[in-house]
Amino acid sequence: MENGAKTNKTVLSFVQSSGTPTLGNYFGAFKNWHDMALENDCIFGVADLHAITVRNTPADLRRRSLEMYAWLLALGLEPEKNIIFLQSHVQEHALLAWILNCYTQFGEASRMTQFKEKSQKHADNVNVGLFTYPILMAADILLYNADMVPVGDDQKQHLEIARDIAERFNGIYGDVFKLPAPYIGKKGAKILSLQEPEKKMSKSDLNVKSFISLTDNTDVVVKKIKSAVTDSEARVYYGEGKNGINNLMNIYSCCTGKDFAEIEAEFAGKGYGDFKAAVAEAVVAELEPLRNEYEHILSDKAYIEKCAKEGAEKAQYIARKTVRKVMKKVGFYQV
Ligand code: TRP
Repeated sequence: MENGAKTNKTVLSFVQSSGTPTLGNYFGAFKNWHDMALENDCIFGVADLHAITVRNTPADLRRRSLEMYAWLLALGLEPEKNIIFLQSHVQEHALLAWILNCYTQFGEASRMTQFKEKSQKHADNVNVGLFTYPILMAADILLYNADMVPVGDDQKQHLEIARDIAERFNGIYGDVFKLPAPYIGKKGAKILSLQEPEKKMSKSDLNVKSFISLTDNTDVVVKKIKSAVTDSEARVYYGEGKNGINNLMNIYSCCTGKDFAEIEAEFAGKGYGDFKAAVAEAVVAELEPLRNEYEHILSDKAYIEKCAKEGAEKAQYIARKTVRKVMKKVGFYQV
């Protein structure tokens, strides 16, 4: 693709505002978003409506939503060229979600594995919002006629139900919704926990040593990588039964662009101490400029708010059109 040339595809993705993003969000999602924004029309949202499926204090929710928006700007996603907004600023999301609820079967929603996992994790608050969460996500996607939706593995099932709902609706009313395709990034799609490298790295993990948050300073990054779980073999190569080392190799590869063979050659004859030091250095080199940019943007709240407001206006323009069409098809009386 020529420099600056755009496809006519719409790429859409959202991130929950449930905490400071991690290295996993960065390599698994944000970097792809950044690359995709060079070639496509993009819509990026902070999913603050989804965030209330777990209990938050109001001040936290507000702060985190602003911070997550600031991260999106810090990544270099340009608010003039893309639509970057807060989900709750466009009320059509809730409206379409309600309508789509009525085109989703209880049985199919019950099959969502993330609902089962989350209801175990938050057994004291298994609210109906948690259950209908994928339908709100379907609304997010279908409102904007998205062609491609970059998501992690854990969201694939939600994307499938969005397609099923869209297909069902189209089957009844004609071609209303575009069917979105998933997009799973080639590399780094899954950065794993540093402590339990069978699990995805997650910002909500109770063990803070298991994840690197994008706000972690150099000392913290070094300490966390030093204490990452490895194995007793003391040889750096990618292989079976070496989840911890494989994960660190993946992180190192994401930071440096080196492939696994190059990494193995680089650390041939060296121990895990040297390897971990190099991984930590590479992570710091990647995150430090990003963190500085984030701090810089966060200090200008008026700028963030201006971008968010303009983003919401652009999003709402599209969302309104879709909702109007849907309501007409369903048979709501229009005057
Ligand atoms: N559920 C997604 C997650 O937790 C976030 C999300 C909400 C989303 N709406 C979306 C992702 C629409 C893609 C498209 O990661």
